[in-house]
Amino acid sequence: MASDKRLLIRGGLVVDPSQNLEAQRDVLIEGGKVRALLAPRESARAAASAEIVDAAGCWVVPGLIDLHVHAREPGGESAETLASASKAAAAGGFTTILAMPNTEPALDNPALLELLKAKAERDACVNVLFAAAATVGRKGGRPTDIARLAAAGAKALTDDGRAVADAGLARRVMEWAADCGLVFIEHCEDESLGRGAVAHEGPAALKKGLAMSPWAAETSVVLRDIALAELTGCRLHLAHVSAAQSAAALAWAKERGLAVSGEVTPHHLALCEDDVPGQDANFKVNPPLRGKADRDALIRALKDGAIDAVATDHAPHSPEAKAAGWASAPPGVLGLETAVGVVLTKLVHPGKMSKKRWVESMSAFPAKLLNLKSKGSLKPGMDADAAVIAPAKSWTVPDAFLSKSRNSPFVGARLKGQVRATLVGGRVVHAL
Ligand code: NCD
Ligand code: ZN
Repeated sequence: MASDKRLLIRGGLVVDPSQNLEAQRDVLIEGGKVRALLAPRESARAAASAEIVDAAGCWVVPGLIDLHVHAREPGGESAETLASASKAAAAGGFTTILAMPNTEPALDNPALLELLKAKAERDACVNVLFAAAATVGRKGGRPTDIARLAAAGAKALTDDGRAVADAGLARRVMEWAADCGLVFIEHCEDESLGRGAVAHEGPAALKKGLAMSPWAAETSVVLRDIALAELTGCRLHLAHVSAAQSAAALAWAKERGLAVSGEVTPHHLALCEDDVPGQDANFKVNPPLRGKADRDALIRALKDGAIDAVATDHAPHSPEAKAAGWASAPPGVLGLETAVGVVLTKLVHPGKMSKKRWVESMSAFPAKLLNLKSKGSLKPGMDADAAVIAPAKSWTVPDAFLSKSRNSPFVGARLKGQVRATLVGGRVVHAL
């Protein structure tokens, strides 16, 4: 995927927490790698012999890495494909995405993984990594062949879409994952606490008369898995943390020195139960949008490090599926194309999170979690994956996306902060 061209990203403010850098630098790229970061007065010679990517007035950051993307291949191609998900990713500043295995069939065997890796190589304009299922068919009955999945290049294990409900089975999966050096990603939800639930157990859903699931459905599995992580030594990552109590549990796990991390989505940082207009299914998501106090606790936890990452949980569903009404529509919202705008508008611009912490949560940390040694940083020698962001540019989210779907709760929202250009391996894959 790397390009041989010499390129200079010129005139931007480089924000790179991996080298504690926030300064005007021009990024010289050669052979698909970062060659040097040049102070503006040193770059005239390089500029004469390189193609220029204009970053005047922009922030230049290491390519964003999304730990939670539903690319829907195989089986869900009417909603998304590897090709369309990768275009949406590029438009959102993401240069690497981790695809979830809740496909049809589930990604639970090495042969399918090899096929998908080859397909992504052909179709995708960003790096696509794959998480494999933790249990066969994601049915929660017996573990997948974790050693062979690891050998075939799976980057993580998860039954995302649901939790591994049986604690004994979760323990075995985590022991095996630890042996193979894989991260176990848990979708924390005890379904017995919210059978048929379609909303957060709180005042908004009560008023609407919707079937509800309480915060404890999430936090009880969070606490169980933290205990199992300590027992097994497994590297545990908690998907889409949504409740204040779950964030507190993560902080406690860190105090104990455990290798446990968590992610939060842009929609859980920006929205709460009161923001759902009527029964618009484009706001229906799992875990559900919770209370204001949860949202505020998530923002604080991300800022102070109890929560490590922002991941989109990009979950495309076709307009037909979402038109089925609140009770029947599948849960899930788009994320890739709006994440930067939402996080800058709601957190970085209002001063709730620093630029460096933001880049850490969307690039440096995800690279570390997935053990991607040449990503998440713009140090010389690293892959030339980068995003150029116009922080002051305001835009209105249109109701058409590069994603094949349009189930976004942010359609019509006015956001400040736009992705100008995205480079993968020194190649421009998105430019406005
Ligand atoms: C996801 C999906 O649509 O695949 N839906 C969702 O509401 N988040 C599944 C998941 O991430 O749990
Ligand atoms: Zn999930």
